[in-house]
Amino acid sequence: MNMKAFRGEIVDFTGDPGDGAHALRHFSDGLLFVSGGRVQAVGEYAALEADLDDSVELIDCRGKLILPGFIDAHVHYAQTDIIASRGADLLDWLKRYTFPAEAAFDDPQRAADTARFFCRELLRNGTTTALVFATVHPASVDAVFAEAERLDMRLIAGKVLMDRNAPEYLCDTPASGFEQSAQLIERWHGRGRLGYAITPRFAPTSSDEQLELAGLLWRENPTAWLQSHVAENPDELRWVAELFPWSRSYLDVYDHFGLLGERAVYAHCIHLDEQDRQRLVETATTAAFCPTSNLFLGSGLFDYSDARARGQSLAWGSDVGGGTSFSLLRTLAEGYKVAQLGGQGPGAAEAFYGLTLGAARALQLDDRIGNFEPGREADFVVIDPAASALLARRMEGCDGLEERLFALMMLGDDRCIDSTWLMGECRYHREDAP
Ligand code: GUN
Ligand code: ZN
Repeated sequence: MNMKAFRGEIVDFTGDPGDGAHALRHFSDGLLFVSGGRVQAVGEYAALEADLDDSVELIDCRGKLILPGFIDAHVHYAQTDIIASRGADLLDWLKRYTFPAEAAFDDPQRAADTARFFCRELLRNGTTTALVFATVHPASVDAVFAEAERLDMRLIAGKVLMDRNAPEYLCDTPASGFEQSAQLIERWHGRGRLGYAITPRFAPTSSDEQLELAGLLWRENPTAWLQSHVAENPDELRWVAELFPWSRSYLDVYDHFGLLGERAVYAHCIHLDEQDRQRLVETATTAAFCPTSNLFLGSGLFDYSDARARGQSLAWGSDVGGGTSFSLLRTLAEGYKVAQLGGQGPGAAEAFYGLTLGAARALQLDDRIGNFEPGREADFVVIDPAASALLARRMEGCDGLEERLFALMMLGDDRCIDSTWLMGECRYHREDAP
């Protein structure tokens, strides 16, 4: 099998930097061996150089950083074309832009075109895995999975479940939503690198019956993921209280229907009380922090420090199209500022852990992706830390790796992504863009 070796500055994580200083692994002049789509070995160039015989294709990335591919834990592919649409707040924005835009995805051609652009945009930003909302139409799920399969990209996606409080043309029924989701699980879940997420949009657009059936479907398919939104906006909270008068809180609605737990990812988690926060931790449910969206829609400030202090399972989401960038570097930069307002923003090690091994753990995929342990799928990103004049100048003044990574997360964006590799194959190269 043909072996490739990548020489460059290699950084990954073997644990959570919050748990100890040795979680960050760094080879300043490193070598990463890949064959059969998997990591074979990683280490210092000097230690591994002897293995570079004629059969090995050497890819010289010196001057660049090599990191595990980034993981976007919350994004809507069908909202790609309405990114940066101005709304008064979440509910206004959903009505004015989101629902009409999603209506177009009953057209398989439109879905396929958008899926192609979307996956390309992920790669352009160094994102190698995403947890994706499609739309209510099964064809929209087929389209994004087909594109991910073509690229051999690890992707989790699901059909939106929505049977009320949305335009008629976007509604399913409890029975049809259940049936279509079950068929999609059958067709796609566990096929190659693809996984299915049961996807109730959010409590206000599902009846009790639909949420009940979502819980049943998850119990019948415990290896599937579950994704939704919770506690994003104060008006949304009031609405949920009216629609589910028996519930103690918004999160309690999901809890009641058995929708919390490992492999469940809830975007936003902003307006939660003490009991909700404890419940998220107790159930090992993941919160997806989506700062560009939370700021853009004026939804509120996620309490990052509190979540970390509690040991909350956390991941980062671009939340495009509520979010304003596909770049998880820009997402980190905005999240850092939000976290600073609420206490202390993450250092660079913690932040990049959150995009890689941290997110892989949250998705229970850390035996496959997230770092460069031998046997892991070779999904990684080659980063040019001097992609702009300002970055280049700032890098020169940095003292050590963590300072450089911090400047990268605060100033970086898609310009820094030199190339993105899936299963050891180059799927994006800046020079060849678009
Ligand atoms: N809540 C329900 N649907 C959505 C959505 O599409 N985007 C965001 N940000 N929040 C939601
Ligand atoms: Zn969202």
